[in-house]
Amino acid sequence: MNNVQLLIQKAFEAQEMSYTPYSKFNVGAALLGKNGVIYKGCNIENAAYTPTNCAERTAFFKAVSEGQLEFDAIAIVGGSKNEFCAPCGVCRQVMMEFCNPKEFKIYLGRDKNNLDDYIEYTLEEILPLGFGPDNLK
Ligand code: THU
Repeated sequence: MNNVQLLIQKAFEAQEMSYTPYSKFNVGAALLGKNGVIYKGCNIENAAYTPTNCAERTAFFKAVSEGQLEFDAIAIVGGSKNEFCAPCGVCRQVMMEFCNPKEFKIYLGRDKNNLDDYIEYTLEEILPLGFGPDNLK
């Protein structure tokens, strides 16, 4: 199994933990730190709706809260089978805070039985003209 396949597999594992009593839209993410550690995250919903946290941000906040601030890639899976789940705008902005937009890779998977079925983007492709820490220097 290659690194991308492993990351997508971990995203499917994370999806199992989704807490989605309201939307039933289960998302999993697996974030690869430059330290080689994979941080898994799921979406966590809330009866008051707005406190809901996306899978991607769960993974980022777990990593950052453990002192890891540099990342190479994230895999995201979710929603209905045979559809790719692209990260929301808020999660793209969180990626922009910690990742190099030209280098950070986003892998979208959709089939746990075919880990080669994915599409790949850079952060720059899905967040053109992103505003990040460099803009405040
Ligand atoms: N969601 C994610 O976790 N990540 C995405 O990329 C898109 C949306 C979650 C939030 C909410 O729990 C559910 O999916 C429906 O929006």
